[in-house]
Amino acid sequence: MTPYLELLKALKPSAKPTFHALDLFAGCGGLALGFESAGISTTGYEIDKDAANTYNLNLEGNCIHQELTTSTIFPKADLIIGGPPCQPFSVGGKQKGLRDSRDGFPIFIEAVRQVKPEIWMFENVRGMMFKNKKYLEEILQTLKGLGYEIEYHLVKAVNFQVPQNRERLIVVGHKGGYEFPDLIEHKYTAGDAVSDIAFNVDGNSKILTKSQDEYIAKYEKASKCINPRDLHFDRPSRTVTCRNLAGATGDMLRVKLPDGRRKRLTVREGARLQSFPDSFTFTGTETAQFNQIGNAVPPMLAYHVAKSILKYLKKEPLVARKNKQLELI
Ligand SMILES: C[S@@+](CC[C@H](N)C(=O)[O-])C[C@H]1O[C@@H](n2cnc3c(N)ncnc32)[C@H](O)[C@@H]1O
Repeated sequence: MTPYLELLKALKPSAKPTFHALDLFAGCGGLALGFESAGISTTGYEIDKDAANTYNLNLEGNCIHQELTTSTIFPKADLIIGGPPCQPFSVGGKQKGLRDSRDGFPIFIEAVRQVKPEIWMFENVRGMMFKNKKYLEEILQTLKGLGYEIEYHLVKAVNFQVPQNRERLIVVGHKGGYEFPDLIEHKYTAGDAVSDIAFNVDGNSKILTKSQDEYIAKYEKASKCINPRDLHFDRPSRTVTCRNLAGATGDMLRVKLPDGRRKRLTVREGARLQSFPDSFTFTGTETAQFNQIGNAVPPMLAYHVAKSILKYLKKEPLVARKNKQLELI
């Protein structure tokens, strides 16, 4: 077993969780796996049946298959976590921000308003800090108004033991005294994650056809691609997305075989690049499984964030500390 696969063994739901999280827009449970492994139990909410099934198959917590709305009533919890879908991204010029009913943020904010957790966190694509900066500011202002100190980090997953150049925005709201985890020096490569399985070819392998190879060559020439999009084993993978796992497009992730043929990634290879341990299995069609993987927060990144949140939750609440200080004066 490679050191990377050994490392992924840490990702398994803890037998003795000490705090409880509501995981909104839970997907297949990438975020939840990180939190459960750190010792925080979860309840998921997810609209997609296959994703909810995957969550229920692999995690200790229950994933409720339901569409969240701003009218959903939430139970008590110590924290709220989630990856709200952000519709204003694709609406072009007509951004309605928090008034857009298809957007996940009004639901996330409503959950925080109801539950008043000690701490909350959400994850989103990096573009939110740039293309949608105004909208992000509106969201953060609203959450600040609910009594939270807020910090945000543009995080590179490769700095948290994920063999991938994935960049994501992580925002944490707390009551004071939270510290974001330190970066981890050792970086893992795509080779660490998949070299023991990537060259296996059998009847199910998706070998690129001649015309696909020609299409890709044209695509790479037209986009002045310097690094062909094959997986490079000596470095982290490109960001794993639904599109480059499931779509037969020019930027799909693939492995160049020793005989020159190219093979599309399997579900297990995609899952490993996202830091899912091999014990985690996905349900639904192959496309549904690729979508669950591409949408997920890498569990190993989630694990490091979860540990920092656990440390915060285990500290005496700041309010209690301040009251004690006042008593001492
Ligand atoms: C980015 S994915 C979340 C990935 C997840 N955090 C993980 O780590 O695996 C967003 C999810 O929100 C779900 N979703 C979108 N709108 C929803 C709603 N109104 N209610 C519940 N789930 C919703 C989608 O089906 C999708 O699985």
